[in-house]
Amino acid sequence: MKEKIDQAKILLEALPYIKRYSNEIFVIKYGGSAQTSPELKDKFARDIVLMYLVGIKPVIVHGGGSAIGKMLDRLQVDSHFIDGLRVTDAQVMEVVEMVLSGSINKEISALLNEHGAKAIGVSGKDASMLKAQPVDMAKYGYVGDITEVNPKIIHDLIDEKFIPVIAPIATASISGHPGFNINADIAAGHIAASLKAHKIIFMTDTAGVLDCENELIHTLTKDEIDRYKEKGTIAGGMIPKVDACLHAVNGGVKKAHIIDGRIEHALLLEIFTSEGVGTVIK
Ligand SMILES: Nc1ncnc2c1ncn2[C@@H]1O[C@H](COP(=O)(O)OP(=O)(O)OP(=O)(O)O)[C@@H](O)[C@H]1O
Ligand SMILES: [Mg+2]
Repeated sequence: MKEKIDQAKILLEALPYIKRYSNEIFVIKYGGSAQTSPELKDKFARDIVLMYLVGIKPVIVHGGGSAIGKMLDRLQVDSHFIDGLRVTDAQVMEVVEMVLSGSINKEISALLNEHGAKAIGVSGKDASMLKAQPVDMAKYGYVGDITEVNPKIIHDLIDEKFIPVIAPIATASISGHPGFNINADIAAGHIAASLKAHKIIFMTDTAGVLDCENELIHTLTKDEIDRYKEKGTIAGGMIPKVDACLHAVNGGVKKAHIIDGRIEHALLLEIFTSEGVGTVIK
């Protein structure tokens, strides 16, 4: 009986958060690096469905770097990185779209639907939601910088009680153009700002942002981020993440979190408990 009462207490602990966040939009960036085992993916889907059923409006933006790499290897398409960006020629772009917009996007939306949500998978090309231009065509090919976000389609889907699941691909608005490969962190940051989301949460494969002694940094400001980037403490895949956090917060999002997607139910711990996990940027 005591155990049951303790369970009820845990549920009640979530009550103030449920009240506070009901009807708020949360953008969740689901990193390719956090999409590891089928069990973890299933738990992620259940966490999102729980958020949705208590009245939060989740919007998922997903990555998929390692899955793209595996498919390129399987199809024996050569590709390489410059400055952490995958050089994307027309052939690579075809695979990027196939993996992101095809396999991963549909896997996530199907999983959410299996657990009782109404999820719909789209890419930034749909309804011209994300428009982009080349970062540097000669150097990186079809890697794009976002120039415009049209959040109307996302609002329409949310109003119809859908959970939008968005692949980070943008349109060039030119007939016959293959579109652009967008870093998923940057896409999530732009989408969160355009939606004026309450929170953006990045789920990745580290405890959060780590300092030079590999200790978790609990909170970060813009100045601290600049210093850590200069020192090289924040590097590689963490750079677009902190940049996207700053973009979102400057665009009106209240808080940006970077959390460990490898921990079971990390999302629920972050949202519904007083402790919180990972790094927060306000
Ligand atoms: N200061 C830092 N703290 C934590 N991680 C860091 C730091 N600097 C660099 N990193 C790297 O950033 C990585 C996370 O970014 P990465 O792009 O690999 O994953 P993701 O964005 O979650 O996945 P995907 O790009 O597939 O969507 C970490 O695994 C780590 O190697
Ligand atoms: Mg990344």
